[in-house]
Amino acid sequence: MADSSRRTRAVSLETGGLPLVSTFALLTIVAGQLQGSGYSEQEPEFLSPLENLTVAQGRDIHFTCTVNHLSSYKVAWIKSDTKTILAIHTHMVTLNPRLSVTHNGHNTWKLYISNVEPKDSGTYMCQINTDPMMSQMGHLSVVIPPDIADDDGSAASAPEGGSVALRCTATGVPDPTVSWKRNEGRNIVFRDEDGKENKVVYSYVGSTLVLKGLRREDMGTYLCIAANGIPPTKSRRYEVTVLFPPVIRVASPVVLRATDMQVTLQCYVEASPRALTTWQKGKSQSGGKLLNSSKYIISEEVVSEYGIRMNLTITRLKKMDFGEYTCAAINGYGKVEGTINLKETPQKTTTTTTTTTTTTTTTTPRPTTTTTTRPPKKHLKKQPDRTNHNALDADLRQAELNNALNFYNINTYGANNSHNEYAQRTERQKVRPSGPPRHFVVYNRSPFSTPPLIIFITYWAVHVVI
Ligand SMILES: *[C@@H]1O[C@H](CO)[C@@H](O)[C@H](O)[C@H]1NC(C)=O
Ligand SMILES: *[C@@H]1O[C@H](CO)[C@@H](O)[C@H](O)[C@H]1NC(C)=O
Ligand SMILES: *[C@@H]1O[C@H](CO)[C@@H](O)[C@H](O)[C@H]1NC(C)=O
Ligand SMILES: *[C@@H]1O[C@H](CO)[C@@H](O)[C@H](O)[C@H]1NC(C)=O
Repeated sequence: MADSSRRTRAVSLETGGLPLVSTFALLTIVAGQLQGSGYSEQEPEFLSPLENLTVAQGRDIHFTCTVNHLSSYKVAWIKSDTKTILAIHTHMVTLNPRLSVTHNGHNTWKLYISNVEPKDSGTYMCQINTDPMMSQMGHLSVVIPPDIADDDGSAASAPEGGSVALRCTATGVPDPTVSWKRNEGRNIVFRDEDGKENKVVYSYVGSTLVLKGLRREDMGTYLCIAANGIPPTKSRRYEVTVLFPPVIRVASPVVLRATDMQVTLQCYVEASPRALTTWQKGKSQSGGKLLNSSKYIISEEVVSEYGIRMNLTITRLKKMDFGEYTCAAINGYGKVEGTINLKETPQKTTTTTTTTTTTTTTTTPRPTTTTTTRPPKKHLKKQPDRTNHNALDADLRQAELNNALNFYNINTYGANNSHNEYAQRTERQKVRPSGPPRHFVVYNRSPFSTPPLIIFITYWAVHVVI
């Protein structure tokens, strides 16, 4: 027992004091065993098994141990998974104030635990110090609804082709199952490093979601959902951003309008992070950027996570307004331009056909006659022109609409071959990415802090004595 003092000290450290108690407990058991060993006619027996209990955190519980023919043996309560003696007979060994024991003076011993905590979970043993010892066990499960650690971040970004790892550390008892979904019912697409689809799933189970070979359509909100059967279920949003240089599509490369009319030129930009956009008259180098004014109305509209529509409305077209317009977009990954040629509608002495209506009312009580002076006959000839003009307009509008629809399709279904062709065409003037590295891993999970154990006496005492 040379190191018994060290062990006792260790016990006192763990229990926060009172090594005396352990010594007392030890002696009590030894005494019990010595006394008990003499009597063996009728062995002690348990009358009923210990219960298994599953309760929510915060509740009060108790275990009941009923023993007949105990004679001079002692009943001890032991936390069997941590090999900790909690109580011997009615003496508390543990210093945990939430634990207590009772004996009804006859054959029933009870161990009470109030305000249960997850760390109280485990196997509890009612033990009799016979040789060999007799025992029975009951399990306590303290359950808690799932929770998700805050320190996993909630956003990740990587350049297109790169990868992200989203980590979702969930706690709860029992261990929650962590699954992932995208919002709006979109599928999660797993790819290889080249961006080729490997697997498309509606949900994925695992605490870490690794997305490789990222493409822009993988951008968006991902939800981590932790569930363990104890309500409420917990979820957390992660924003995945895929970074790429801007791509521009012009709605119509050529737009026809007549003077004095108003025109709206449109460009669609895909970029991440969001691009800075400008409109210019002429080629990009030639002039300064157009500013919002009564002449130029500049607006833009977000149409998807990474798509925006740029409008330039030019009011009251003059001869000098016709020509090339450039829409440009720039972000940290590149710069791109689109050109729209605004042309004057070819005109054949476009006269504004005003219909002059003269109304002559006679003073006679005759029914009112209305004499209409019809416009000259050439009006009828002009009509087809107008129609053509309108038709042309309509065609252009349709073209714009088609382009727009096409654009939306791409947004919805993601980049496909035709889109890539386009992207290659427009992704000129690439600049070196200056953004984050290719592999951007967002997790930095500190290890679980082990919950403090209810430790009272080292299991040395149990082993030596029992
Ligand atoms: C308690 O659970 C254990 C298994 O975990 C089982 O062997 C035992 O029979 C259960 N006890 C009772 C009283 O149901
Ligand atoms: C330009 O002005 C219009 C209103 O005239 C406004 O709706 C629009 O947001 C402005 N655009 C910019 C870029 O400031
Ligand atoms: C841009 O122009 C189109 C077509 O003229 C129009 O439908 C859209 O509302 C405009 N968007 C903005 C933001 O002005
Ligand atoms: C790409 O788009 C075309 C038509 O726009 C379509 O026929 C084709 O199936 C698409 N490809 C993929 C891989 O989605």
